[in-house]
Amino acid sequence: CGIVGYVGSNSSLEVLLGGLRRLEYRGYDSAGVAVIGVDGTLSTRKRAGKLAVLADDLEASPMADGQTGIGHTRWATHGGPTDVNAHPHLSADGRIALIHNGIIENFAGLKQELLDDGFVFDSETDTEVAAKMLGREYEAGGGLAAALGRVVSRLDGAFTLLAVHQDEPGVVVGARRNSPLVIGLGEGENFLGSDVAAFVEHTHRALAIGQDQIVVITADEVTVTDFDGEPVETHEFEVSWDASAAEKGGWSSFMAKEISEEPEAVANTILGRVVDGQVVLPELEGLDEMLAGIDRVIVIACGTASYSGLVGKYAIEKWARVPVEVELSHEFRYREPVLNERTLVVSISQSGETMDTLMAVKYAIANGARTLSICNTQGATIARESDAVVYTHAGPEVAVASTKAFVAQITALYLFGLHLSRVRGTLDPEVAAHQLAELQSIPAKIEQVLGNGAEITQLAKWMSDSRAVLFLGRHVGYPIALEGALKLKELAYIHAEGFAAGELKHGPIALIEPGQPVFVIVPSPRDPNSLHAKVVSNIQEIRARGARILAIAEEGDVAVLPFADEVIRIPLAAPLFEPLLTVIPLQLFAMELATAKGLDVDQPRNLAKSVTVE
Ligand code: G6P
Repeated sequence: CGIVGYVGSNSSLEVLLGGLRRLEYRGYDSAGVAVIGVDGTLSTRKRAGKLAVLADDLEASPMADGQTGIGHTRWATHGGPTDVNAHPHLSADGRIALIHNGIIENFAGLKQELLDDGFVFDSETDTEVAAKMLGREYEAGGGLAAALGRVVSRLDGAFTLLAVHQDEPGVVVGARRNSPLVIGLGEGENFLGSDVAAFVEHTHRALAIGQDQIVVITADEVTVTDFDGEPVETHEFEVSWDASAAEKGGWSSFMAKEISEEPEAVANTILGRVVDGQVVLPELEGLDEMLAGIDRVIVIACGTASYSGLVGKYAIEKWARVPVEVELSHEFRYREPVLNERTLVVSISQSGETMDTLMAVKYAIANGARTLSICNTQGATIARESDAVVYTHAGPEVAVASTKAFVAQITALYLFGLHLSRVRGTLDPEVAAHQLAELQSIPAKIEQVLGNGAEITQLAKWMSDSRAVLFLGRHVGYPIALEGALKLKELAYIHAEGFAAGELKHGPIALIEPGQPVFVIVPSPRDPNSLHAKVVSNIQEIRARGARILAIAEEGDVAVLPFADEVIRIPLAAPLFEPLLTVIPLQLFAMELATAKGLDVDQPRNLAKSVTVE
């Protein structure tokens, strides 16, 4: 969910709706606002559907504006996306409005307690329980912030809560535990947001706060305490990107824009990290001894980020000669993994807020492992929790399904792999320099792949009524097959599966029937493992059973021609670097096919960009 709070001298409705528009990628089932009007009364408006539904509603029947307010855009957890379940929720006397991101795990017991006391509920949400509790605590005295402190100390789970009270105009209070919340510092106005996108239009000064803290903002003051009201330290930072970086800027969708930015995403992630032909990661300074001593790397991530981890595994194992396992964060967290101080847990997360990954990182720390995060969002929770962070510099990614962050994550993993191999002395410096040069050549090659986009648009149009699409790859092409399938599921709602090409004959080949489209990522014929020949054989096996072959192959690879219905060409690259090129046509294909079906590629149904619940 996305959360925004404002106190200042401007129209809070305008600030809230602007903030929500930028946060909508965090959830878009429903949206709502609460404002303390100039007349001193609290009013709320909330509607199921995208933010535009709420905005239209406010236009058709305006509500009293004021200078204090909170806004919410929801990704439903407890209770379906209806008007009633949308936030804000109110206290029993209607004088407090509250919004929430996360899940209150013990809400059922708390709700029963309130029901026994005669409270009546409108919605099915866990949030309304917190709103009713806050109303009750407020009556016990001490003001809104103190009441919120008493409420949150009874809540289990992960949450960010923001609240306003009609009797305290000019004040927004917030609390966080494991869910994101950032403060924006303005002149005579202050902001709260799930991330800096909420207020970057108004200020670039931000304040990061820690876990289990309460924040109170007024127009001129910001106070941060722990749940008991004791002051705590905060950390001010400058937001490095401009509001326009998160605008569509003439593109048909954020996704189209973000795919076009992939050359820069890779180049900017390398930028400043190469000195005299060697990788230098200042953020890992002082960690050489630890990195030389680790005997295992476990990569944890979810979704697309986990596939970047799978690609990284091939390079890190080859260069740094250390075993690398890749695991989904939520599976890692709950299976009692074997960890010790020689285990390095590398978490990968674009948002740095994915709850499944955050919980896995905390578990790793609690169980003695060392932690490194690869993250695209400055100051994000996962980055702050880890021993070290290597940022990807992809810039803000707004489209829900990840594209440019994926190539930036692979880039960061490769930089880390080269750094690790130097510290461990496992790679000939000349070979390392050569690999680095290969990486530096990638942005221009991505540019070339993008130049052939029209071909893919045409293919996607032809295939827009496909019922199922399969993807095959081997070695580093295997995770790309998985990612190609995920993109198609996410964007075009088409059943899609990725397989390791070698596994085909062990089961999936049974799926092949005449006309079945299969994308095959073909390794370079120059591959030292001669995987090319094996994949060409795999192609023949499915071709013989009627499959329609869409090959992604290197320029000049003629061996695929007799068996492929379509060939999409990529420029020559060293084998480990091919994923940075082969994924591009698959991203474009999914986007174009979804577009051809008339779907919203930036906000696919049921998804959210940063999933801050487990
Ligand atoms: C969500 C998004 C995916 C993303 C995944 C991990 O499921 O819809 O696009 O890959 O989360 O997100 P993260 O921010 O941790 O990289």
